[in-house]
Amino acid sequence: MGWPGAALNSLNSGRAAARAMPTKPTPDMQKWCVDEKGQPRIDKGAENLCMDESEICFIDGFHSKLYYRGYSIEDLANYSTYEETTYLLWHGKLPTRSELSAFSDQLRNNREIPQGAYDLIRAIPRDTHPMEALRTVASYLGNVDPEKGKLGLDSMMPKAIRLTAKLPTVVAALARAREGKEPIRPRSDLSHAANFLYMLSGEVPDKFWERAMDVSLVLYAEHEMNASAFATVVVGSTLSDYYSSIVAGIGALRGPLHGGANEEAMKQFLEIGKPENVDSWFKENVLTGKKRVMGAGHRVYKTYDPRAKIFREYAKKSVEVSRDPKIADIYRVAERLEDLIMGQLCESRGICTNVDYWSGIVYYAMGIPIEQYTPIFAIARIAGWSAHLMEYVARNRILRPRLYYKGLLDVEYVPIERRG
Ligand code: CMC
Repeated sequence: MGWPGAALNSLNSGRAAARAMPTKPTPDMQKWCVDEKGQPRIDKGAENLCMDESEICFIDGFHSKLYYRGYSIEDLANYSTYEETTYLLWHGKLPTRSELSAFSDQLRNNREIPQGAYDLIRAIPRDTHPMEALRTVASYLGNVDPEKGKLGLDSMMPKAIRLTAKLPTVVAALARAREGKEPIRPRSDLSHAANFLYMLSGEVPDKFWERAMDVSLVLYAEHEMNASAFATVVVGSTLSDYYSSIVAGIGALRGPLHGGANEEAMKQFLEIGKPENVDSWFKENVLTGKKRVMGAGHRVYKTYDPRAKIFREYAKKSVEVSRDPKIADIYRVAERLEDLIMGQLCESRGICTNVDYWSGIVYYAMGIPIEQYTPIFAIARIAGWSAHLMEYVARNRILRPRLYYKGLLDVEYVPIERRG
């Protein structure tokens, strides 16, 4: 038996021979990514990936239909509340009166956040985007959760209740800290929606604004395997902890192609400014391909998003209730821009108004700063993230897709001294 170094030397010389001619993988080395002709078979954006069975949500993107657990979004927006919808998403059925009362009490009793979280909120630089700050504080709440360290499905439901109850408190405290104001402690005698608005401003909202916020939370609560739900489930599929999964969801939601679009849509209306500017703005920016209309287009809907229709009605009512001419102007900008979208992008290209188009006008009329719109989306969507997480992990398989490798193999490693 020779010295191991000798074997290593011969290995190196073998590699040196291959180095002269880098290769590429043959189709059979990555057959999961090639078709029968050996050509790459890529599902860019995972558009056609059907990764599991589910009983949570169905979107009929060609007929403007959305269902949570079989119930239409129109019925839920008309008759349900965020608390009831969350129960429905997590338990698969509408609660009885006593089940709803017990569930709502659990949420109410878990609204307060520990002093450490208030200290952390104060320590976060004020110019941090609230979604990035929310990600940090949500992560911290995992560090002080009474069941921290428990992984997988174990304790997921109680953690989901605790974090769903606490996120509005965090968002409101962050919003106030950003303006140099002290946080307002949660109240347990108000609904999820009313308490959130109360913690933002210090005033208990009247019935219209409470209902508008509540409906917005219902509309944003769930939407099948979107990017943030996917991020959440990817983390959960490793049997990681609940908070890590939700933090991943918050990170994915922040982007302007996903939840961040509600902020961008509002900024776009303000940039346009007046209804008479809409046509030229559209021509110069959208028709030339310079900009995308924010709050339009969707991977699944190729027609009007049913949530946008409901938000639109609330936006209209919000303008009437607020009686603010500036908000009325913004509404007219959005109305005219939507005419152009529907006339020139929707039927021909399937780019139609989506959920994030009108929601901002409702929040704007409430006086909520624009950078808080995506955090509001997050405090609603935690319901859907948690539902998918619990459903997926109950029949878990680690999520691990493949990539088609088009690079080289056996490339010579050139020592740094020889690289020039
Ligand atoms: N304005 C103008 N053109 C658009 C838009 C838009 N809003 N959306 C898509 N397109 C065009 C895009 O330029 C592309 O054109 P081409 O084929 O000539 O290159 C074509 O439509 C297909 O675009 P895509 O990016 O491949 O479509 P997608 O299904 O991958 O993307 C989307 C969906 C939502 C990311 C996209 O429509 C978009 O960027 N919309 C604006 C941002 C937005 O409103 N996001 C919120 C989505 S809904 C709720 C949520 O998730 O929060």
